[in-house]
Amino acid sequence: MSIHKEIKRITTHTLQEMKNTGRKITMLTGYDFSMARIIDSAGIDVILVGDSVGTTLLGYDTTIPVTIDDMVHHTSAVRRGQPGCLVVADLPFGEASLSFDRLLDSSRRLMQNGADAVKIEGGKDVADDIEKLVATGIPVMGHLGLTPQSIYKFGTYTVRAKEDKEASQLIEDAKMLEKIGCFAIVLEKIPAALAQRVAQSVNIPIIGIGAGNGVDGQVLVLHDMIGMTHEFNPRFLRRYMNLYEDMSKAISQYVTDVKKMDFPSDSEQY
Ligand code: KIV
Repeated sequence: MSIHKEIKRITTHTLQEMKNTGRKITMLTGYDFSMARIIDSAGIDVILVGDSVGTTLLGYDTTIPVTIDDMVHHTSAVRRGQPGCLVVADLPFGEASLSFDRLLDSSRRLMQNGADAVKIEGGKDVADDIEKLVATGIPVMGHLGLTPQSIYKFGTYTVRAKEDKEASQLIEDAKMLEKIGCFAIVLEKIPAALAQRVAQSVNIPIIGIGAGNGVDGQVLVLHDMIGMTHEFNPRFLRRYMNLYEDMSKAISQYVTDVKKMDFPSDSEQY
C-alpha cells in the first residue's frame, strides 16, 4: 500500500498543459466550505481564496485591512470542502513587502492550512522574494495590472497600462515573473490587446479579469458573478444570476409567512 494519498486532480502542471494545448482555464474566488463544494462540483479548475473576501464578505472598502489570519481562516474552510481543483490563496497586504522571513512564514501558514499555491501582487518590487519563495517549493501565482492592494498608490480602480510606458513595463514584469518561476499570472483590468500580447510573450498561463478574451483563462469574483454584490457593475463583469434580489425575496416571504402563522404548517412540525 502506498503511503502517499492520491494526488489532486488539478495541479499547477495541469494548468500549464491546458495552456500548451489551448484549453481555457476557469478560476473563481471562493472563501468557505459550502462555496468550495459548489464551485468544485461545477467543474472549475482553480478556486482563488482572494483577499477580495475583505470587500465581498467582511464589509471593508478595500482589501487593505485583510490579515493573514483572515486568509488562513478562509483557506482552511475552503480546504474542508475537499475540492479537487487547485486552491490558490492570496498573500494579503503588506505580507510580501516587510521581509522575506515574514513572507515565508505567512506562505507556510497558507500552505499548511489548505492552499496548493499562493498569489502575490506586484512586479519587480517583489521579484527577489518571489524567486526565493519558489526556491523553497511554494508555487507562486503573480498578479499584474490593477493590483487592488496598491489602491492608495494608484488612487483609482480604472483600467491600467493604457499608456505605452506602463504597457512595456507590464510585459517586462510578466517575462520576469515567468523567469523567476511563477507558474501563472493574473492580469487585472488592462486593455485586451495588451493582455493578449502578454499571453503570447510568455509560456506560463495568463488568467485575466477585465483583460479580454485573448488570454489563457478567466477569473471572476464569485459574489459579483452571482449578483450578491449588486452595487458593483464594472463593464467586464457578467452576472449569471441576481442572488441579492432572490435572497431578499425569499427572506421577506419567510417574514410574511411567520407573521401570518403560515409557517410552520402542520406538515412542518412534530
Ligand atoms: O482577491 C481577488 O479576488 C483577486 C481577483 C480579483 C483576481 O485577486
